Amino acid sequence: MAILITGGAGYIGSHTAWELKDQGRDIVIYDNLSRGHRQAVKDMPLVVGDLMDTELLEKTIEEYNVDSVIHFAAESQVGESMADPQKYYINNVSGTLSLLKAMKEKNVNKIVFSSTAATYGEPERIPIDEDSAKNPTSVYGRTKLMMEQILTDYDMAYGLKFVALRYFNAAGAHISGKIGEDHAPETHLIPIIMQVLLGQRDEISIFGTDYPTPDGTCIRDYIHVTDLAQAHILALDALYDGMESKIYNLGNGNGFSVKEVIDTVEKVTGKKIQRVEKGRRPGDPAVLIASSDKIIKELSWKPRYNTLEQIIETAWNWHKNHPNGFDN
Ligand code: UFG
Repeated sequence: MAILITGGAGYIGSHTAWELKDQGRDIVIYDNLSRGHRQAVKDMPLVVGDLMDTELLEKTIEEYNVDSVIHFAAESQVGESMADPQKYYINNVSGTLSLLKAMKEKNVNKIVFSSTAATYGEPERIPIDEDSAKNPTSVYGRTKLMMEQILTDYDMAYGLKFVALRYFNAAGAHISGKIGEDHAPETHLIPIIMQVLLGQRDEISIFGTDYPTPDGTCIRDYIHVTDLAQAHILALDALYDGMESKIYNLGNGNGFSVKEVIDTVEKVTGKKIQRVEKGRRPGDPAVLIASSDKIIKELSWKPRYNTLEQIIETAWNWHKNHPNGFDN
C-alpha cells in the first residue's frame, strides 16, 4: 500500500517525502511541477499531473495501490491570492474537491492536510490555540479554512478521516543540505535574507517598524521544515491507528521579530546584512505565535530543530551551496 503525496515536489512536500522514503515507506508523488521541482524528489515515483484531473488521480490511486493521502498541493501566496482570487478558489478548493472525489471513488479514507496559521487572521490572543477565532484576512487563508470545513463535512457524511495541520512559518532546509526552499518569486523573509547574503539582492526590506511589538517589527513563530514533515507522519500513523479527525497547530511557541531574525542570520553567518526600513505590507498581523500543546500532548510530537539558530544554519547551508536553487 502506498501513500499519495500531492504537491510532493514542493518545499514541505519534498521534505516529507524524504522522511517517508528514509523510513522505507511506499510513496507516490503527484505534482504538476508548477512550483515543485523534479530534482527535489529524485528517484522517487512521480506522476506529473494536476489536481483537477480526477481521472488521473483515480488511475494513480489504483496503479500504486494508494490507501492514504498527504495533501500539500496548493497555491500559497497571500498577496497573489488577493490579486487573483479565482486562481486560489479553483486550484485550492476545486482542486481539493477533485482529489476527494477520486479518493471517495477508490475508497481511500485517510488524509493529512496542509492548513495554515492564516486561517486565524488577526489573532484574538497569543499564543494561538486551535479553538481561537478563525477570521482569515486573505483569500489564501479563506481557501484553507474552506477546505478544513469540506473535510469535516466529508467525515460526517462519508467517514473520511483527516488531520489538518495549521503551520506557522515554515523555514530551514534538510539537515543533509540536499533539498531546501526554492520559490520563484520568493516572498518569505529567511530565503530573501539569504539572497542578500549571496549578492542576489542589495538589501532586505523591513516591512513595518511601527507595530505594537518591542522593536516595532512583526513577530512570527518559525518552525523547521523537517519538524513539520515529522508531524505529518505522526498524524498519518495516528489515522492508521484509528484516530478520529483532528486539527493541530504546528509552531515552536517562540516568537521572533523581523529584526531579531536578521540579527540571528548575521550571528550565524558572520556576515553583515544591508537593511532598509519600509512601510507595512498589507495584511500582516503584528504577532503570530502558536500553542502546539495539543499535538505535543496527543501525538508526542517533538521538534528537533527548534532554535532559530538551527533553522537558519540549515537554510544557509542549502542556499550557499545552491545559490540558484534546484537549477544548479
Ligand atoms: N518580511 C519583511 N521583508 C521581506 C519579507 C518579509 O519584513 O522581504 C516580514 C513580513 O512582513 C512578516 C515576516 O517578515 O512580518 C514574515 O514574512 P513571511 O512572508 O516570511 O511569512 P508570513 O508570516 O507572511 O507568511 C506565513 C506563511 C504563509 C501564511 C502566513 C499567515 O508563509 O503561508 O504566514 O499569516 F499564510
